Amino acid sequence: MKVAAVLLAAGQGTRMKSNLPKVLHSLAGKPMLWHTLQALNQAATEKPVVIVGHEASQVIEFVGDAADCVLQEPQLGTGHAAMQAGPVLEGKSDYVIVTYADMPLLRGQAFQQLVETQKKNGGPISMLTVVAEDPRGFGRIVRNDDGTVAAIVEEYVATPEQKSIKELNVGAYCFSADWLWDALGRIQKNPHKGEYYLTDTIELAAREGLAVQALIHDDLLETIGINTRVHLAEAEAVLRRRINQELMLAGVTMIDPDSTYVEAGVAIGMDTLVMPNTYIQGSTTIGEGCEIGPNAHIRNSRIGNRCKVFMSVMESAQLEDDVDVGPFARLRKGAHLMDHVHMGNFGEVKDSTLGPGVKMGHFSYIGNATIGANTNIGAGTITCNFDGKKKHATEIGEDVFIGSDSMLVAPLKIGDRSRTGAGAVVTKNVPEDTLVVGMPARAIRKLEKHDPD
Ligand code: UD1
Ligand code: MG
Repeated sequence: MKVAAVLLAAGQGTRMKSNLPKVLHSLAGKPMLWHTLQALNQAATEKPVVIVGHEASQVIEFVGDAADCVLQEPQLGTGHAAMQAGPVLEGKSDYVIVTYADMPLLRGQAFQQLVETQKKNGGPISMLTVVAEDPRGFGRIVRNDDGTVAAIVEEYVATPEQKSIKELNVGAYCFSADWLWDALGRIQKNPHKGEYYLTDTIELAAREGLAVQALIHDDLLETIGINTRVHLAEAEAVLRRRINQELMLAGVTMIDPDSTYVEAGVAIGMDTLVMPNTYIQGSTTIGEGCEIGPNAHIRNSRIGNRCKVFMSVMESAQLEDDVDVGPFARLRKGAHLMDHVHMGNFGEVKDSTLGPGVKMGHFSYIGNATIGANTNIGAGTITCNFDGKKKHATEIGEDVFIGSDSMLVAPLKIGDRSRTGAGAVVTKNVPEDTLVVGMPARAIRKLEKHDPD
């Protein structure tokens, strides 16, 4: 049995008051549309079709090859939008799921249940409804005396009696394909707004004596629709809880999930502790047994096992195993800290690799540098990597001791086991086993192995 899916995303979303199309507003770090596409893929057997219209090029660019996009121009309502998928999908599936891109909390399971219900339905439509005290502007489900579904009535045309109906249209349907493509051609323009409503297919089927199955959904939170930024924040809170719960059930400890902000798609290993006021975003992965936060901000980064990131910022950076960072460290793009690196307070690392066991305790800037194993970077060390026009590289060997407040003027190489005196301004390459001091720094003697000075 082939199941196609159509996602309606052509509307303007006027109530968002935004230059960005509604469906591209971010929820848990991903555009609203992404969440529904994920859910649809769990129930459909075919590649989804997204109906685009308002700011179509932006939406098409985001969708990429995750779905086929079809343009609806002009936008004449949800029925008209679904109809645009006809030429692409007619004859290609047995069932068609249709849903709206402003319902991002619906899970794959809800769509699966909908398809299963429709497979058993002798009639052409199964749809998701919800029973709620707050109608939130949703269409009302009108039932006949015998309990069968008669129609969906939109709030603005509903009679006071219909307005009091508590069963609402969620906006997720599974149709028998052949019936849908034919019926969409038969719905009439709505006299009030001049639009074609997808919801009118329900009345059409009911009038023809065909069964419409209403599957009453029990999770109210899944049916939050986004029309304003207030709804967006409500949905964000629900998603946050959902993501955190999944992580906790998979072995992550969170002291205060309500103040732990993990985006969709982040992976965190078992026995890692995430402390409050921490943001973990983008394509970040974190290993097992780590301590993250409080007050950490981590984006598109990879963290190994048993690392500590305390009150620090990381963006597009990597930590291998047993690394500890912070408080107040900043790791920028291309920072790569190997096993057992210690990076203390007020340090900044960019486009640099710190070899295994490097210690950089206090107030340093390391940019465009490679640092060999077990080297010590003294307090206040700066790689002067920018000459006003270009960036230059610094190469520091293994077991080097960089004295406090050293200025390393790049391009520069410092050989293994060398040392710089406190306050040295190093402008020339330093060979191995050499002590340099002063401004500009001069070699004053050759060092013996394990020389204490
Ligand atoms: C719709 C339903 C309502 C339901 C509610 C649930 C209709 C007529 N009404 O109302 O019964 O309770 O959703 O959320 O279907 N769109 C297009 N092209 C258009 C118009 C809309 O693609 O020409 C898309 C929008 O981008 C949006 C979706 O369809 O993603 C729903 O449109 P919206 O205007 O939000 O409908 P609601 O008023 O919420
Ligand atoms: Mg809506």
